[in-house]
Amino acid sequence: MSRTVVSRTVPSQTVPSRTVENAPVRVGLVGCGKISEAYLGAPYPGVEYVACADLDRARALATAEAHGLRAESVDDLLADAEIDVVCNLTVPQAHATVGLRALEAGKHVYCEKPLATRRADAWELLAIAAASGLLVGCAPDTFLGAGLQTCRKVIDDGLIGAPIAAMAHMVNHGHEHWHPDPAFYYETGGGPLLDMGPYYLTALVALLGPIARVVASTSGIGSERIVPVGPRAGEVLAVEVPTHVAGVVDLVDGTIASIVTSFDVFSSELPRLEIHGSEGSLLLPDPNTFSGPVRLFRRGARAVEEIAVERFALEQRGIGLADLAAAAHGTATGANRASGDLAYHVLDAMIALAESGETGERIDLASTVRRPPPMPPRDVRDA
Ligand SMILES: NC(=O)c1ccc[n+]([C@@H]2O[C@H](COP(=O)([O-])OP(=O)(O)OC[C@H]3O[C@@H](n4cnc5c(N)ncnc54)[C@H](O)[C@@H]3O)[C@@H](O)[C@H]2O)c1
Repeated sequence: MSRTVVSRTVPSQTVPSRTVENAPVRVGLVGCGKISEAYLGAPYPGVEYVACADLDRARALATAEAHGLRAESVDDLLADAEIDVVCNLTVPQAHATVGLRALEAGKHVYCEKPLATRRADAWELLAIAAASGLLVGCAPDTFLGAGLQTCRKVIDDGLIGAPIAAMAHMVNHGHEHWHPDPAFYYETGGGPLLDMGPYYLTALVALLGPIARVVASTSGIGSERIVPVGPRAGEVLAVEVPTHVAGVVDLVDGTIASIVTSFDVFSSELPRLEIHGSEGSLLLPDPNTFSGPVRLFRRGARAVEEIAVERFALEQRGIGLADLAAAAHGTATGANRASGDLAYHVLDAMIALAESGETGERIDLASTVRRPPPMPPRDVRDA
């Protein structure tokens, strides 16, 4: 399937809204684990969480109780006529199954990253959505935050000139050091690349445009991890994915990005993300955050300067869902920014990096995508 996928930009989706203009979009949340708190903690205007579900009924009940929602079974939530959008916060291995079922039930879908663990499943999601006039959105949405939006303006205003190189490093010693249930990070669809790569690659694509080809070296498949802390302490996890990935990502605009994602690094001082151009260097914030600092070194300058980053009342996970809600309402111009198309392209690149690590081949991507438009200057983040 990998390199036979036809090049595609998904046709722009015009969505027959099932909702009343200006009424909040009603969201059913599937997957009441660790990240659900971040979404439910402070919902964006235009988004109303009404129900939740989880395979683990006790988790759904506890989440419902804490946030004043209805606890439903997954089947009932998908059949719930009140729900417009399913927010899919399950583990990556369940993203495609839950997403497809939600689309088949006539719901828009917003999914945590990655969109799916296989290209074919992600493709099917987008195809069914396009055929049904439904929207697909996907995390990460950090590129919609003030930090990376400021970086976008710096680049678009020409302050670093023509981009030449980018460097992305996400290195640590694995999520089993803090996550209570870390097994999924070492199953197919997990690993540092598919788990954390989306933040870095989505930021690069949103800032500089699509990826043309990739090559990588990888290691770690077949090793074991022992959970050091938490309820699963002592458990041995079989590793199905690379735990160290060193890749080169050639962007269509000619920028050469190097990327390292690793769960094999105890300590490091590597920068998270940098973009270097003909007229300056941009030192970006952690792309897994919504704000700054944004730092710039201009040709001829004596020092790095800090670029002011606007502060908004709301800067957190869920802005991509709010953006999808606005698109579903027809109150936004155009489609949602943290889109399924963007997530598909990033997934394609990540899977190609992993494949390249196995085969040693440089891989041309079959998918492409346009840069999503920048956020308007004042928006839901300030509501
Ligand atoms: N934990 C974080 O800090 C974090 C941050 C950003 C993104 N994410 C992403 O969020 C997603 C969830 O991560 P998490 O840390 O909350 O995981 P988690 O293991 O804490 O929670 C996942 C929940 O999904 C439920 N679930 C699994 N399969 C299901 C299915 N088929 N139907 C219904 N429920 C199902 C599980 O029972 C569990 O309660 C992942 O894609 C992850 O990459 C997590």
